[in-house]
Order: sequence, then C-alpha cells, then structure tokens
Amino acid sequence: MEYETPQFFRVMRYASQADRDVVDMVSGSPDWEPPESLREGLVEYAQGDTERFQYPPSVGLTGLREEIADRRAVDREQVVVTNGAGEANHLAMSAGFEQFPGSEMLLVDPTYPYYAGRASLLGADTRYVPAGRGGVPDTATVRDCTREETSVIVVNTPNNPLGATYDRETMAALVDIAADYDALLVSDEVYDHFDYSGRFSSALSFDSPHRVVTNSFSKSLAITGWRVGYAVFPDREGPRGDLFDHARTRHMLTNVTSSRPAQAAVLHALRETGPDYYENVRDRLRGRIDTFTDALDTAGATYTDPDGGFYVMARFPGFPGTFENVERLVDEAGVAGMPGEAFGDSRADWIRFALVSPRVETAADRLAEFFG
Ligand SMILES: Cc1ncc(COP(=O)(O)O)c(C=O)c1O
Repeated sequence: MEYETPQFFRVMRYASQADRDVVDMVSGSPDWEPPESLREGLVEYAQGDTERFQYPPSVGLTGLREEIADRRAVDREQVVVTNGAGEANHLAMSAGFEQFPGSEMLLVDPTYPYYAGRASLLGADTRYVPAGRGGVPDTATVRDCTREETSVIVVNTPNNPLGATYDRETMAALVDIAADYDALLVSDEVYDHFDYSGRFSSALSFDSPHRVVTNSFSKSLAITGWRVGYAVFPDREGPRGDLFDHARTRHMLTNVTSSRPAQAAVLHALRETGPDYYENVRDRLRGRIDTFTDALDTAGATYTDPDGGFYVMARFPGFPGTFENVERLVDEAGVAGMPGEAFGDSRADWIRFALVSPRVETAADRLAEFFG
C-alpha cells in the first residue's frame, strides 16, 4: 500500500463530484456542535487586547499546558501543545527514532494510514502486528514481533478504524514491551472521550520513560479545523528527559508556535465544559452505531461493533473494499466510505464508515437496500 499520498481526498473528491446525492462518511470530521463556551472563548479573545495577539510561548499557552497537565495528572513541563495530534505523533515518532536504537516502527494492522506515511517520511522501516479478533493486538504477538531494530511502537486506543479500546492489562504489557526492548511506545489517544466500554486505559497510567501519549481537541471538542493537540513526554528530570527537548526544538523550528486564539478558546472551553457535553455526544454516537449496524445486518454484512471511536468497518459478501467498489457504492447507493485497503492488507475486503453525518440513517437505509 502506498501511504504517502493521503487517500481520503481521492474518495471525498469522487463523492463530491458524483451525479447524485451522496452521504459522505469518509473522513472523521464531527458534524455536531462544539461546546458553547468554545465560541464564547474565541469571541472574548477576538475582543481582547492586541498584546494577546502576539506569539504565545512556543510549547503552548502556560494556562493550557497547566490545564492539560492537571487533567492528565502529569507535570506541566512534560506537555507540548501542538498543531493537532498529527503534529504530536510526528514529534513523538521523530524523538523516538532519534533517542532509541533501531530504525523500525511497529504498527498494528489495520493502521491509521498517516502513521505509515509518517514512518516513511522519517526514513523508518515498518513492521506490522495483526489486530486480534476484537481489534486489540495480542500482547504476546506484539512481544514476538518486537526486536532490536524496533525503536518506536505506535498504538491507537480507542482505535481508528476498528473501534477497539485497549484495557489496562494490554496497556501495561505494551509499556513493558517498549521498556524491555529499549523502544518508545507512542499511544495516540485522540478518541479517549469516545469510550463506550468503560475499559479505556491511558498509557499515562503507567509511569515510564518509554511512553509518550498524544492527543488533541479535534474530536473531543469537535474542532478538527482548529489544530490544537498535545503530546505528554516522560519526566524531564528522568532518564528520557531529552525526548521533550527534541520535540520542543522540532516544534519551534517547524512552527515557531501554535495558534494562540485557538489555544485560548480551547482553554476557556475546557474550564467551562462539564461532563454532560461529552456524555451527550457519546449517546448520540451510540444511537448512530445501533442504527447503522442494524442496517448492516439487513444487508448481510459482517461488521465491527465499536467499543470506542466513531467508525464502523463492514464487509459485504462478494464486494471487497477496493477503491473501485467504494466508487461504485457512491454512484449506485449514494454512500461514501473509505476503502479498507487504505488501512492495510488485513482489512482489504472491508469498507470503513465514519458515523459523523446527521444522515447516518439515510446511509443505513441505502446500504440495506443496495445489498439486501
Ligand atoms: C488515530 C488518529 N490520530 C490522529 C488523527 C489526527 O488528529 P488531529 O486532527 O488532531 O491532527 C486522527 C484523525 O482522524 C486519527 O484518527
């Protein structure tokens, strides 16, 4: 699979140029409202003093770093605010390759395609561990696949595309494997607010110089366009304090800093938003998952029933998830998903649907009719 050219745009473009109405379920851009306080925070910022329109500290607004640190029970000095989880992943991986021996990145198949693309950008080799039946990799297999050449292990929980949520035992084992092989575990937890199982366990629950956690507000506050994320590095006074320094320098030389209005509004929203906001979004998504998977039953499909995140993967009999078939689905059923082959070989027969459309029910009906 060619990971360097993002495939999302190819399908989105095809869907937008179709001759008919299409429900777009290709990319993971939330269709629901951010918390009201986010808009308030931005308005307040825009009306404020121009002094605050100038460079914030390169590693992020101090207040935002403190808020993140409090929530994640870490020290503010471990946090770098980034341009989304995308940059956080890049900084973590690049720091891992610089600081740990080896040139190989271990990924779980199927994988979020940008990890593999980034590995090749960083000149790393990739090796894949299969996701187990429920979408969680068997930790004994991860251990077997890890070797001296492995310098970075990347996991994503709750998972895109499979919807699996890794429990505490799995996370503990992954942190141990990274330590045993002198590697860095990068745990991308961008869907942490979308855990329906109650089993989600952050890699931050385990104090180790061998793990970095990446995250962002793109999904949790429904603002993929605002570009505010972060990475939490190991203790700066500890044996891998250099990881933070590496990331800070890269972040500064690439970006100078990150958008101040976006950071200010996110900080305001974090302070003002209660748990109800997140609970309501989860309820809405649970409803969509039920509607969609009911229709997949009617369509005779096999599918994932996500424990977290907002994607469902489906396999339709005699209709593998190639680009050609996805385009056929656009033209003939009016539903656009993402070809399974874009996520790796293991799910090449499947199609991924992002449940981020108010028209999930329409899409479900169309699929049930097309395949039923
Ligand atoms: C697993 C995963 N990580 C990272 C990202 C990118 O997040 P951000 O928009 O914060 O860069 C996505 C976006 O879909 C994702 O699915």
